[in-house]
Amino acid sequence: MTRAADLLEIATRIAQEAGDLAAQRRREGLEIATKSVAADIVTAADKEVEAFVRAELARERPEDGFYGEESAAQESRSGITWVVDPIDGTVNYAYGIPAWAVSIAAVEGSADTATWSAVAGVVYNPVSGEMFRASRGGGAWLGETRLSVTAEVGPAGGLVATGFGYDPATHAPTLELLARVMPIARDIRRIGAASLDLASVAAGRMDAYYEKGTNPWDHAAGVLLVEEAGGMVGGAPGGRPGKGMVIAAGPGFYGRLEQILEPEL
Ligand code: IPD
Repeated sequence: MTRAADLLEIATRIAQEAGDLAAQRRREGLEIATKSVAADIVTAADKEVEAFVRAELARERPEDGFYGEESAAQESRSGITWVVDPIDGTVNYAYGIPAWAVSIAAVEGSADTATWSAVAGVVYNPVSGEMFRASRGGGAWLGETRLSVTAEVGPAGGLVATGFGYDPATHAPTLELLARVMPIARDIRRIGAASLDLASVAAGRMDAYYEKGTNPWDHAAGVLLVEEAGGMVGGAPGGRPGKGMVIAAGPGFYGRLEQILEPEL
């Protein structure tokens, strides 16, 4: 097995078990606390599931680094760092909306999106049972189906997914960006989980996704899914995807979206 395939197997097993644990905790009840602002919530399950993923990774690959949403980062001694969102779409999880996922990526380089390169990634929605998987050079997959981004976007415009940051300071620029995109959009979707937005672009269920202000754990696995499904991913202006901006789309639509989103607000 290649190293990427090996990492993908590990990520798949752990995401499956972590997702099933989160779903079980959801059935048992919720314990919610707020983080940066009132809208930014964390449940006891986010923390427990991240601790589970971290412990499993440490057991399988003790030399690797760890960069997760709910706990302190750990430096890598192997060159591989795991970037993990135990529950992406926590608000959906809390409300019982079936659109949340465990997102796990293995990246080479530092955990800074500007320099890293993901080698394996999975996005697992335990409610639908869908496990999106990708490895560098090995394609993006949903079960036995190889994924491809949409090839063409017609004159009606693209179906575009986006997200809105929790920080009130971002509200006005978010609306300005949305106003720029709407004229080239058939319609807009706000699913509430960046990893699933990106998986949807990879699967051709969405023509594009953009969002300002996501963190590496929200988009690391999804970015690899889109790239391996033949899509283009970038940030603004013109760089790698990062906290500033993530733009993802098929080659037939990417340029139009990128042009409209730059200069970034
Ligand atoms: C959030 C979701 C949401 C996106 C936010 C993320 P979380 O992640 O992915 O769709 O708009 O930017 O922070 O907090 O549910 O893990």
